Amino acid sequence: MKKEALLLISLFLFSCSKGDFKEGKTFIGNQHVTADTLNLGKQVYTEYCMACHGAKGDGNGPAAKGSVPPPRNFTQGLYKFGWVKNSGLPTDEDFKRIIQKGLHGTAMFPWDISDDQTYAVTQYIKTFAPQVWENLDNEPSEPIEVRKDPFTIARKDFAIKKGKAVYHLVANCQSCHRGYATLSELKALGKEFGYDAPEELSSDYYEVKIQESEFYFHDDKERLAKYLPPDFTWHELRSINSLEDIYKRLVSGITGAGMPVWRDVIEDDEIWATAYYVQSLREIKDKPERKELMRKLEEGKK
Ligand code: HEC
Ligand code: HEC
Repeated sequence: MKKEALLLISLFLFSCSKGDFKEGKTFIGNQHVTADTLNLGKQVYTEYCMACHGAKGDGNGPAAKGSVPPPRNFTQGLYKFGWVKNSGLPTDEDFKRIIQKGLHGTAMFPWDISDDQTYAVTQYIKTFAPQVWENLDNEPSEPIEVRKDPFTIARKDFAIKKGKAVYHLVANCQSCHRGYATLSELKALGKEFGYDAPEELSSDYYEVKIQESEFYFHDDKERLAKYLPPDFTWHELRSINSLEDIYKRLVSGITGAGMPVWRDVIEDDEIWATAYYVQSLREIKDKPERKELMRKLEEGKK
């Protein structure tokens, strides 16, 4: 849908909205939010967000039809892209980044709104899921810590090679995403880094495998969204703008969407190495190197 059409729908919805907040609210972590902030948030939401996320916040706005992935249903109180420990709720900083930078490859654009507007709309979104945000027994989330990159640019090539080994032989990312190495490469990498290599490759080794999620759309709790793990040489990555973003995503996982948390599952230097490797795969998107890699994998099967 064109941005102009969205704006028209938004203006229409805006003119029908009423029922302003008379009182403030208290959210998890003893965060007091004034009625003025919530009213500003509602105004921003109605103008920019409601067309997709819906008047009730259930992801069922008029512009949501046919959107893949569907807009988030805020009544569920479940979110994917925080940088927080233990698959926790996003922090206000996370919401700010998601709203202002958008989610690449989806209908969730980067929204050019001020920090005050962003803060206000974030608080308003929380009012759609009071069972989560107004349950003051819930602990506030803790942001992940970013541990030091042990490789840096100086040892980039080594990091990519190690990451390729970790990706295919330790973390088995290809069990959901796809593989990018031939059997003979895997055997050589196993020898070099001391990891076990497979004797043969499964028939779907080079395919992405669609995953079940915990997200439902609108009020149909039976119909759970399914998400395709990206092929890093092909798809856009929602929350990623840099190497460090990949590291942070691996440390945090993607809550509710089937992408595991990798901190404490593999070593921190293995997470960094895998981030370098994924970044190297992203860099061959739309380049002749991608064609060359696909040809090599095809050859390797014979
Ligand atoms: C054109 C449709 C559209 C509009 C308008 C829109 N969004 Fe979204 N939004 C989406 C889609 C689609 C997703 C789900 C992306 C995914 O699942 O990867 C999403 C997801 C989100 C998420 C969830 C992020 C997470 O970590 O789970 C938040 C928060 C959000 N949008 C806030 C907003 C706000 C605030 C506005 C208005 C300023 C807005 N959106 C406007 C389509 C839209
Ligand atoms: C159990 C299945 C599963 C495994 C194992 C898995 N992933 Fe994912 N991953 C997913 C799914 C599903 C998505 C897409 C989620 C979505 O679209 O919201 C994803 C998305 C991603 C993204 C994109 C994030 C973004 O912002 O779009 C990255 C990067 C990623 N995975 C890296 C990895 C790496 C590296 C490994 C191995 C260390 C791995 N994944 C293992 C299921 C998995």
